[in-house]
Amino acid sequence: MASAPQESLPARLVVLVSGSGTNLQALLDAQAAQGPAAYGAEVVAVGADRDGITGLERAERAGLPTFVRRLRDHPDRASWDRALTRDVAAHRPDLVVSAGFMKVVGAEFLAAFGGRIINTHPALLPSFPGAHGVRDAFAHGVKVTGCTVHFIDEGVDTGPIIAQGVVPVREKDDESALHERIKEVERELLVDAVGRLARNGYRIEGRKVYIP
Ligand code: GRF
Repeated sequence: MASAPQESLPARLVVLVSGSGTNLQALLDAQAAQGPAAYGAEVVAVGADRDGITGLERAERAGLPTFVRRLRDHPDRASWDRALTRDVAAHRPDLVVSAGFMKVVGAEFLAAFGGRIINTHPALLPSFPGAHGVRDAFAHGVKVTGCTVHFIDEGVDTGPIIAQGVVPVREKDDESALHERIKEVERELLVDAVGRLARNGYRIEGRKVYIP
């Protein structure tokens, strides 16, 4: 699968969040600092699976349209997934970024945006996938961990890897201190990866991602 550099930069990004939204903020800061055309991408809308989160407040402060799609308002996961797909499609994204979005998207979402959905995960995949990547790595006693920016496929944190950053574990770390240091690296990695994908285009061959 290949994607040419966006014909008309900046590429349109829809960002999905579930929490504090510091990764979203990093994208917003990069586009503000460099200008959307030079950075190559621009956040056009922010979606969430819950209300009342700082991630949505950040979007509102930036004057962006937001939407909330809660699983519990739907009879089943497929109907939630269909509605989320519609919400995102309405903003005509070139790329979708799952930035701390704590839900696994379904078949319909993948059919609409497959090969264009980027996720950030706070561990060095394929080790420690899932919702507790930092906790699981810390409990395992690893000496280095980090973060992975990757494309989403039908598995949980299994898609082709775009970029990884390494973070050493310190003797005095607890889970939360470690996660904060991972997030510092993660924000830079995500900003860099999204910008390069948008500006240069990319191709996915099996498990490999090539950015010219
Ligand atoms: C990130 O570490 C992400 O990888 C994980 O949750 C954190 C989200 O942080 N799934 P934020 O909401 O972007 O501040």
